[in-house]
Amino acid sequence: MSAAVWNKLKELEKPSLAQIFAADPDRLDTYATGFELGEEDNSCAILFDWSKTHLDAAHVAAFEELAEAMDFSGRRTALFAGEIVNPTEGRAAEHTAQRGVGKEESVALAAECHHRMAAIVEAIHRGAMGEVKHLIHIGIGGSALGPALAVDALAREGAMVDVHVVSNIDGCALEQAFAACDPATTMLAVASKTFTTIETMTNAESALAWLREGGVDDPFGRVVALTASPEKAMEWGVDETRILPFSESVGGRYSLWSSIGFPVAMALGWPDFAELLAGAAAMDVHFRDSDGMANLPLRAAFADQYYTRLRGCQTRAVFAYDERLALLPDYLQQLEMESNGKSVKADGSPVDGPTAPITWGGVGTDAQHAVFQLLHQGTNLVPVDFIAAIVPGHDLALDHHRILLSNCFAQGAALMAGKESDDPARAYPGDRPSATILLDEVSPVTFGALIAFHEHRTFANAVLMGINPFDQFGVELGKAIAKQIEQGGTTFDPSTEALLKRAGIA
Ligand code: F6P
Repeated sequence: MSAAVWNKLKELEKPSLAQIFAADPDRLDTYATGFELGEEDNSCAILFDWSKTHLDAAHVAAFEELAEAMDFSGRRTALFAGEIVNPTEGRAAEHTAQRGVGKEESVALAAECHHRMAAIVEAIHRGAMGEVKHLIHIGIGGSALGPALAVDALAREGAMVDVHVVSNIDGCALEQAFAACDPATTMLAVASKTFTTIETMTNAESALAWLREGGVDDPFGRVVALTASPEKAMEWGVDETRILPFSESVGGRYSLWSSIGFPVAMALGWPDFAELLAGAAAMDVHFRDSDGMANLPLRAAFADQYYTRLRGCQTRAVFAYDERLALLPDYLQQLEMESNGKSVKADGSPVDGPTAPITWGGVGTDAQHAVFQLLHQGTNLVPVDFIAAIVPGHDLALDHHRILLSNCFAQGAALMAGKESDDPARAYPGDRPSATILLDEVSPVTFGALIAFHEHRTFANAVLMGINPFDQFGVELGKAIAKQIEQGGTTFDPSTEALLKRAGIA
């Protein structure tokens, strides 16, 4: 059934962006949609503008047929109902329950965990754990990227606590945090869903040693554990009262909303963290209740599938024209590539075509002066997302923000229009796609909606391809070999053996 729809999609005419705009003068009404958030008199919107993509009525109709063939609405119901949507691990994926949208029992459990987390955050802010000026948050992957991004995006105007997120096992990362903190006023958050990750546990041990050497008599008394394995945190030495648990059914890269968001609440205060959850919940409700093309994450997934499977695009780029969102491409890289970088479908059979493209990107305008040459004139077709905010994040009086936004919009226009020239080196082919996500402002509520939009876009892509976005077995083999190397006694290929010998590890 889905093969027939793909055949139909492959046979459809592929008009250029210029032809598409000429054929549909009201295109913006359909493909650029405002998403309202908040109270009516204090409404805050995000514009999702997919008008500069090659989606047209014929493609949208066929993709809607594909969504039906892939039982999109059934898969989505299963997601929100807390059913097993991660069959290889026998788990649900209940990140939306953290935001109050999902199975009743899971929503209640998440609320209980948040209640406990809010109490601890507020107690620390009140001084119940002594003076706390710094928080070193230790975690990796999904246990670090979300908090790092959210703190960087939202806590620039005076954080309540100075947060340092340390992920890498390279000691340089931890030393950098130590240099910026005073052991006498520093707390540690050890964030690990499994509480077994070698990088996190090693960094946590070193941080405890640093506290001890810095004169802290009871370093464990400064630790808060954020985990779905509370018993392991207790075994390691954390007092039960300072363990903030979350449910096993929340995936690592979807865990910002759980106690993994502790540093965000510490930096912003609980009310702002609650706003972040509310923004995500508004997107959850939209995703749950809208159908076909009107569903913003699904619409984005239609375009993603168009470029990956019908136009052979191997990458997609994300450029945040906002310093506060500089870490967003990194965050999306894990979300999309760890979720959908698969070669088999959920039932174990081989996929019918390419899966997740390589997500990459950077910050504008810097990237314009570095990599945009390839986007405009290179041989690869790269769909681009531009993300910007109307209200600047700074108070500088000069034209900084006008110049920033002018450049952002100019790039999308240039990619689409191109430019003819008698000199081939100076010609731009044009007809290159982009989408623009324009936030009224970068605030907890818009940020929450923006991240939830991408989570649902990733899920929608997985459903259209028939894959399970919630496991990540591809990361395990390298971990296992690293362990063998560390333990010694295993012989590897000649190339690896030579490297180990040269580095003095063998
Ligand atoms: O190695 C990949 C991974 O399992 C990610 O999926 C996860 O976010 C990260 O490691 C950290 O895992 P944990 O939170 O269990 O320490």
